[in-house]
Amino acid sequence: MTTSILLVVGADDATAERITQTIGYRAVALSTATVAPSGVSLLRGIDPVQLPSVIVFTDELPVDRSLQMASEVHAVRPDIDLVLVGDLEAQLVLEAMRAGIRDISGKLEDAACLANLRSRLDARSGTTRVGSIPPPPGPVDFVSRTMTVFSPKGGVGKTTLAVNLAVSLAEMSPMEVVLVDLDLQFGDVSTVLDLHPTHTLEDAFGAGALDSLLLKTYLTVHADGFYVLCGADSPAANDKVTGDQVIALLELLQSQFRYVLVDTAAGLDEATLAALEVSHDVLVVSSMDMACLRSVRKASELVVELDLMPPSRHTVVNLTDKQSGLRIKDVEAVMGVPVDFVLPRMKEVQAAANRGVPVLAEVKGSPFAKGVRALAKRIYDRARNNEPKPTHRRNEVA
Ligand SMILES: Nc1ncnc2c1ncn2[C@@H]1O[C@H](COP(=O)(O)OP(=O)(O)OP(=O)(O)O)[C@@H](O)[C@H]1O
Ligand SMILES: [Mg+2]
Repeated sequence: MTTSILLVVGADDATAERITQTIGYRAVALSTATVAPSGVSLLRGIDPVQLPSVIVFTDELPVDRSLQMASEVHAVRPDIDLVLVGDLEAQLVLEAMRAGIRDISGKLEDAACLANLRSRLDARSGTTRVGSIPPPPGPVDFVSRTMTVFSPKGGVGKTTLAVNLAVSLAEMSPMEVVLVDLDLQFGDVSTVLDLHPTHTLEDAFGAGALDSLLLKTYLTVHADGFYVLCGADSPAANDKVTGDQVIALLELLQSQFRYVLVDTAAGLDEATLAALEVSHDVLVVSSMDMACLRSVRKASELVVELDLMPPSRHTVVNLTDKQSGLRIKDVEAVMGVPVDFVLPRMKEVQAAANRGVPVLAEVKGSPFAKGVRALAKRIYDRARNNEPKPTHRRNEVA
């Protein structure tokens, strides 16, 4: 038996809440910022037991986009009832029907439209889903890989690396990457990417029972083909978040995405330790100075002692320049591990961040971009081979 859920595509939470109050069924809103781009199923990643029974496409979206999504959903789940809101010309009505739309309804606020939705949900509540209908694409057809970017020190380039790695992985696996801003107090991924999220981690941690449908509505799509779970606006918003909550969130994302990339705050807080616990890869980032290198070594040793060091470790030295007076050999001696990637200090990197664009999108052939791409390729290859073991192999770029 199932409880009917209504998915309202192209609406805000307040609208969904109003609908829920009026019709007595759970309505979940998917804002236009979260709608998957063309070619990615709207249902991707949603746990089959939480699939909506009825989907209504509002007139916030262009009709052709709604029809495209409708036909993609209809192809994999013809049992889902699809409704379109709008005032269509005859030709479009025909196209809508071909796309699997079963009804075209007037304004969402109208009593008649809501009554129509309620009776459709009534008709579907309590029905058992037909076993012969396949589940939507994902979440079980891949092995997910989680990577945490970590450093005991601030300002060493964790966020810069995380953002650019997301771009690079998304070039190889579009819409299969989610970047999580787990710098719970001062996360700045949305600033660096110039995103204006409708929802943030505050909603994800605040939701009593987080499920895959709700989580999907909390993500923001970036134009370069990946999703972001943005940090909360207020530094105090997530101060009570526990390690268990972080693990539950990441495990849910693992069920939906091939790559889960986690940016963290400087240091080793509870959230970072929890992320390390469920990560396959850790990207240990240091700048090219003695104090930072020593801290990285100590923090890494602590993570090993706690038995939380992920199986695949990539050591990244960022912001390198000639002025440091250190050679990579010296760095390795201080850190006690081989350096895998060396990323040079480049003014373009900071300039890009200030403009809210990932540097990879701007200066494709730069040594920084080449280094990030090499790192992404290494993770991609390991993910394809399902290989957790690190093989330390210098991939120096500077
Ligand atoms: N290779 C680089 N060349 C030049 N500037 C860089 C480079 N890497 C990072 N930066 C700049 O250094 C600053 C700090 O980077 P970033 O915010 O990524 O560090 P962080 O480790 O995430 O810091 P925090 O711990 O405070 O979150 C930013 O202004 C960023 O643009
Ligand atoms: Mg940061």
